[in-house]
Amino acid sequence: MTATAPIGIFDSGVGGLTVLRAIRARLPALPLVYLGDTARVPYGSRSPETVRRYAVEGGRFLLERQVQMVVVACNTVSAVALDALCDALPVPVIGVVEPGAEAAVAATRSGRIGIIGTETTIASRAYEEAIRNRLPTARTLARPCPLLVPLAEQGWTDNDVARAALAHYLEDLRREEIDTLVLGCTHYPLFKPLLADLLGPGVRLVDSAEATATVVATRLGAPTGEPVEPTFYLTDLPHTFSEVAARFLGGPVRHVFQVRY
Ligand code: DGL
Repeated sequence: MTATAPIGIFDSGVGGLTVLRAIRARLPALPLVYLGDTARVPYGSRSPETVRRYAVEGGRFLLERQVQMVVVACNTVSAVALDALCDALPVPVIGVVEPGAEAAVAATRSGRIGIIGTETTIASRAYEEAIRNRLPTARTLARPCPLLVPLAEQGWTDNDVARAALAHYLEDLRREEIDTLVLGCTHYPLFKPLLADLLGPGVRLVDSAEATATVVATRLGAPTGEPVEPTFYLTDLPHTFSEVAARFLGGPVRHVFQVRY
């Protein structure tokens, strides 16, 4: 029997563990190699040029790990650097924007779709274009929410501070009566209960991590066999890593290596 080649999952830091978690839930026997560029996170406030450079460096590192595919968990990289990665890597590259947009179009009834993400993701308009390519009549409203990444990493996803920040960011999305909200950042699935509470049952939450995991599972088919533990490569190992990572993964993170490339 030939061993299944791993897939690489690339992120700017720990947030991409939400994507890894969703893929693992569907494909437990598929070997996964995760790279988090924790030394240079956050990407979400950086220029597209810098994000592209970081992304290609990370993609090359994963390629050396013999991956058969690279999944770009980071929304910011998916929004501004997917072309650069596709050009640089001789394996399929899947980002989170197209699957997220597809899921949003499937979810909306009124065509009024909100998108939240990092500053660089929102400035790129990548989600808006991907949605309009599928549904030209869609009315999209996109808002950057820069405070949500540090709040999620702090574990402040359901307290007064998180509630105030979200209420502020969502103000005009609510006024515009969106019926679908795209969570266009790796960290935002952690706010789902609070978002559901603030927006009410009339607004569907689209989790790009889940949508991407479905696309990966459809493309690859589930390998049979025993579940395998992922390997985690990080460019920096801050002392809070295990605690923060466990929050995103929903369990302990083992097989962690610090790397330089
Ligand atoms: N991973 C990033 C994203 O999904 C969020 C963290 C960052 O800014 O690097 O856009």
